[in-house]
Amino acid sequence: MIIAIDGPAASGKGTVARALAAHFRLPHLDTGLLYRAVGAEVLARGLDFSDVPALAGLAAALDVQNLDGEALRTGPVGEAASRVAEIPEVRQALIDLQRHFARQPGGAVLDGRDIGTVIAPEAEVKIFVTASPEARAARRHAELSARGEPVTPRSVLEDILKRDQRDSSRAAAPLLRAADAELIDNTALDKQASIARALEIVARRTGRG
Ligand code: CDP
Repeated sequence: MIIAIDGPAASGKGTVARALAAHFRLPHLDTGLLYRAVGAEVLARGLDFSDVPALAGLAAALDVQNLDGEALRTGPVGEAASRVAEIPEVRQALIDLQRHFARQPGGAVLDGRDIGTVIAPEAEVKIFVTASPEARAARRHAELSARGEPVTPRSVLEDILKRDQRDSSRAAAPLLRAADAELIDNTALDKQASIARALEIVARRTGRG
C-alpha cells in the first residue's frame, strides 16, 4: 500500500503522514527533507543557486540515512529548499531513491509536493492536505519562534505566500493536487481531527482500518 500525501508549506502533511505510517506500520519518507538537505549544503558551501551542475551533484551525493531533521527545519533552509527544488536536474537526481522507497515490499508513506503526481502516480491512496495561508503561517510562526528564530507573524506569512507561488508556478513537478487525490482542508481542524479524516480516507479507498 503506497500512501501519497502532498500539500503546501506548513499544511500539516507531515503530521498526517507520520500518523498514518505509525498506524499502518509503514516506513515514512518526508521528501521535503531531501530538498532541505540540498538547500542547506548550498548555503553552507556558499554556492550560487544558478550553479546547476554543482547543485545536481550535491543532490546525487546526498546521504539520505543521515539527514538531521531538526537542523533542516529552519526558515532559511526552507527557502533554500524551494529554490533548489525548481531545478529539474536536482529533482531528477532525487527521483530514483524516492521511487525506490515508495515501491518497497509492503508499501510506504511519502509526503511532499509531487508524490501523487510524479513519484508514485500509482499510489492507492492520495491525500492533498491544505489550509488557509493565515492558518499555515500561524502554525509555522509558533514552530519557528519556539525554536528561537526571530520571526514575526507577518514575515512568516510573506515567506509562505512566496514559497506557495514558487512551488506552484515552477515548470518542473509543480505543487498540484492530483485529479484522484482526496482533499483535507484543515484550516478549522485540529491534529486529531485531521488524522481521523485521513484514516477514513484510507479505509474508504483500501478497506484497511
Ligand atoms: O515543511 P514545509 O512544507 O515548509 O516544507 P517541506 O515539505 O520540508 O519542503 C521544502 C521545499 O522543498 C518546498 O517548498 C518545495 O519547494 C520542495 N519540495 C519539493 O519540491 N518536492 C517535494 N516532494 C518536497 C519538497
